Amino acid sequence: MNRWKKAGIVFIIIFLVIQIPAFTPEKNNSDEEPVDDITAAYDVPMDILMHLYNACYDCHSNYTKAYPWYYHIQPVSWWMDWHIREGKKELNFSEFAAYAPGKVARKYKEIEEMMEKKAMPLKSYLLVHDEAKLSDDEYRDIAVWAKKMQEDVSAKANAGQQP
Ligand code: HEC
Repeated sequence: MNRWKKAGIVFIIIFLVIQIPAFTPEKNNSDEEPVDDITAAYDVPMDILMHLYNACYDCHSNYTKAYPWYYHIQPVSWWMDWHIREGKKELNFSEFAAYAPGKVARKYKEIEEMMEKKAMPLKSYLLVHDEAKLSDDEYRDIAVWAKKMQEDVSAKANAGQQP
């Protein structure tokens, strides 16, 4: 058997072993009520909320909506799971209402910046999620909203009030 054949067989064996279901990370589908969702404490107009829900919640909430069938093929699920965990660490709309005011202001600022740069949603995600694509106007609307929210939260924090 030549080297390439051997390497091929080793590759196939590894590929098959990682398909064992125990290696698939648990799905990001909390069964708890989202009591600290951003909407519990902050004003999110319906159109903005729909954009966040369609374009951001899969990675930035405790409820990933649609897992594709190929989620069950490794190493796809590790890769997706990593994006979700990293995304939630930065920004979790399901826990946003529990963030301290300083963090909230910072997160609104980051959202504004991300929308201005059109850096979110991730490009790899947009390749397979048409419904998450945002138009120029929608990027702008979210940026304008986030900027306003940041100013509101900062003004209230300066006045010593809770948001
Ligand atoms: C496919 C998963 C995915 C989607 C969908 C997604 N994000 Fe992210 N997001 C990430 C990951 C991963 C990070 C952390 C690493 C990074 O900054 O690239 C992140 C980071 C962020 C950050 C913090 C950036 C910083 O300044 O460090 C913000 C703000 C953000 N995302 C906003 C959004 C918004 C708003 C949407 C929807 C319009 C969105 N994201 C959609 C995966 C995603």
